[in-house]
Amino acid sequence: MFSSTEIGIDLGTANVLVYTKNKGIILNEPSVVAVNTDTKQVIAFGAEAKEMIGKTPANITAVRPLQDGVIADFDITSQMLKHVMRKAGKTLGLAIRKPDVVVCTPSGATSVERRAIHDAVKSCGAKNVHLIEEPVAAAIGADLPVEEPVANVVVDIGGGTTEVAIISYGGVVNCNTVRIGGDLLNENIIQHVRKGYNLLIGERTAENIKIEIGYALVEHHEKKMDVRGRDLVTGLPKTITLSSYEIQESLKESLLHILEAIRATLENCPAELSGDIVDHGVVLSGGGALLNGMQEWLSDEIIVPVHIAPNPLESVAIGTGRALKFINKLQTVGK
Ligand SMILES: Nc1ncnc2c1ncn2[C@@H]1O[C@H](COP(=O)(O)OP(=O)(O)OP(=O)(O)O)[C@@H](O)[C@H]1O
Ligand SMILES: [Mg+2]
Repeated sequence: MFSSTEIGIDLGTANVLVYTKNKGIILNEPSVVAVNTDTKQVIAFGAEAKEMIGKTPANITAVRPLQDGVIADFDITSQMLKHVMRKAGKTLGLAIRKPDVVVCTPSGATSVERRAIHDAVKSCGAKNVHLIEEPVAAAIGADLPVEEPVANVVVDIGGGTTEVAIISYGGVVNCNTVRIGGDLLNENIIQHVRKGYNLLIGERTAENIKIEIGYALVEHHEKKMDVRGRDLVTGLPKTITLSSYEIQESLKESLLHILEAIRATLENCPAELSGDIVDHGVVLSGGGALLNGMQEWLSDEIIVPVHIAPNPLESVAIGTGRALKFINKLQTVGK
């Protein structure tokens, strides 16, 4: 028993989750690390570090070591993984020494990037590290019949990337990754407020605006929100009122890129599987699936049914953990 601990990790750009078969999701933390830049010492991880973004003194920075779904800072990612494994071990009540670990990688990751993820997990004491592509994990986590010869279409809209994949018979038939996700939507909002109001707002404020009054390109009743930031002209704090209409407009271009990726994937689908898609539709996962009006907008645009996974923020982690049971079929690196 001791040696056969198995865990699944969703090492996401925005959030890290850990899943085990018996206990379900045992860890869910933002992928943020606070570092003292003078000493290079890690001060905080996860939620605690996220609280610090944009609020720290000059010698402390809150870093997001993963960008666009891949590792941007290897050392800090390794430290974050060590912290994640320790915390998961505590929750499990036994040391997770030498676990078998499945980690998801974005399907657009290069072999060098995949190797980096593999090595970071291995350096935390994993016995075997298996890599699974994120959309496959999302499909398994959303309870789709991925092992059957039918087309399962998954659109995973994460913080860094959107991945669209058609999965059939346990493998990816066709997929597309665009480096557009929730982070870029936040950035679109920051730019809109800066240009339109000469007001500087932080990443967290932008994310709150997106969640509260961000809409996919659908008709809706206007919502308003008061937002505080720093006036770029006077340098003083200022409050403005934003409308959901202008936020929707600011997200338009990025959302259309996501739509393009979905269309391109569906257009390249083998004819035999196209019929399945009309019947079964598309499943949305990742935090971006929760954007107001997303499901409605996409189903209008691609004219097939669009469903949201039962737990869109958790699907990949759940699928990663469940994938262990047919791990032999998955790509394994460095075993
Ligand atoms: N209700 C919501 N409305 C819109 N966006 C949301 C909502 N809730 C979360 N998000 C966004 O979802 C993103 C995080 O999603 P998720 O946890 O799936 O990403 P990730 O797996 O860490 O990233 P990636 O898969 O790209 O590596 C963030 O950008 C967050 O702002
Ligand atoms: Mg993800």
